[in-house]
Amino acid sequence: MYTLNVNGTNYQVNVTDGATPLLWVLRDIIGLTGTKYGCGIEVCGACTVVIDGQREHSCVVDVSSAVGKKIVTVEGLSPDNSHPVQKAWTQCQVPQCGYCQPGMIMATVAAINAGHHGNEILPELGNVCVCGTYERVRKAVKTL
Ligand code: FES
Ligand code: FES
Repeated sequence: MYTLNVNGTNYQVNVTDGATPLLWVLRDIIGLTGTKYGCGIEVCGACTVVIDGQREHSCVVDVSSAVGKKIVTVEGLSPDNSHPVQKAWTQCQVPQCGYCQPGMIMATVAAINAGHHGNEILPELGNVCVCGTYERVRKAVKTL
């Protein structure tokens, strides 16, 4: 049993193997399915969450190592899409299929946490979008 703080709420999760990826715990046990699975090998960024303010790929974070940290998923940004990054995404109509977008948004949040703004954000992302929304991502981050 582990206690995880996700989006400001403590969750007791019944996981026997501490090496279980945080991504599976978020999605399958806690039920926060905004965070997506893409590659599972820390390449695509679909599983990006923010842990203690920093970008992390939840597909390679052991659940045991997330205990005692503040985990934020896309669901935790705002209850009504009013977070500045969500607003920029809406205004620039960034998503296409949407699958990669929670990871793209959370990587942007982490880049802002690290002190980057506007054009400095894009090089910090590295997320893969098979729909090719990069141009609209570029437009959105320019406004932040
Ligand atoms: S699923 Fe984690 S980086 Fe691709
Ligand atoms: S919007 Fe479809 S994968 Fe990025």
